Amino acid sequence: MSNLEFRRHRRLRQTPGLRSIVRETHLHTEDLIYPLFVVEGDNIKNEVPSMPGVFQWSLDRLGKEVEEAVNAGLQTIILFGVPSEKDETGSCAYDHQGIVQKATRQIKEHYPHLTVIADTCLCQFTDHGHCGVVEDGEILNDESLELLAKTAVSQAEAGADIIAPSNMMDGFVAAIRQGLDEAGFQNVPIMSYAVKYASAFYGPFRDAAHSSPKSGDRKTYQMDPANRREAFREAQSDAEEGADFLIIKPALSYLDIIRDVRNSHNLPIVAYNVSGEYSMIKAAAQNGWINEKEVVLEKITSMKRAGADLVLTYFAKDIAGWLNDSK
Ligand code: PBG
Repeated sequence: MSNLEFRRHRRLRQTPGLRSIVRETHLHTEDLIYPLFVVEGDNIKNEVPSMPGVFQWSLDRLGKEVEEAVNAGLQTIILFGVPSEKDETGSCAYDHQGIVQKATRQIKEHYPHLTVIADTCLCQFTDHGHCGVVEDGEILNDESLELLAKTAVSQAEAGADIIAPSNMMDGFVAAIRQGLDEAGFQNVPIMSYAVKYASAFYGPFRDAAHSSPKSGDRKTYQMDPANRREAFREAQSDAEEGADFLIIKPALSYLDIIRDVRNSHNLPIVAYNVSGEYSMIKAAAQNGWINEKEVVLEKITSMKRAGADLVLTYFAKDIAGWLNDSK
């Protein structure tokens, strides 16, 4: 074996100190966006059956959860509204007294420095459960834009720091940008769900937000999981229309897409670690089949390694706690 020539990669892995100075990707608490489901009513803390550890909160109980998040060091949350009333046009989405608007005002009053993102969509608020206006079973694109812009403006009026439209209608960024600008909110950024696939991984979220479509599916507006080039087109048009951040969703099965968009765009990129990705890990961990903390940290780090600047994840509070423990 005397003239064997090879590289010694293991040299740099010998000690925790060496490993830490060659580590290429770091996870920080400020990279995380923590989702919260807010629901009408009093004294409600409902665990979502398919998402152990995730709750729907009524406004009187929300404060404590937000306080815990802030104390853990989280700087950004995103609000998903679960209204008590739904109608054909999702009017509670753009009601000044809507659940997201009320929650935003309440949170900003107590935590003015917390960045509050409002998810902007109609599916939780419409009785048919689609993300746009429906007529004769068809989802109407252009007719939906005005309602989405109206929703965004009312969220900004309530004090939302960022508008995050997730509806996947064409032109939604342009319409919302124009709506915000005309209402005087030129400085409110849009975090666009630019690349959003029609994914089976959203199942548990639809339990949490009561937002399943009553008929049909979302395949005429959300993307085909088989497509990669289409992601470039979606990201490109949102960037051109004025998006300030680009969300890729889901994340785990789409790390290649995160990398593609990172390589082709300079906007901040957000990976949405969706509900099904959360629930799979929770279920396996509850069975003792995997180490939850290690698996979560590995997968969120992978999303950053793939090119995400921020990760939207139901594990955000747990991760913040783990990162604090390791300091
Ligand atoms: C739609 C929306 C969805 C999610 C958030 N907003 C997807 C959908 O129901 O089509 C899913 C998020 C998750 O699974 O965590 N407005």
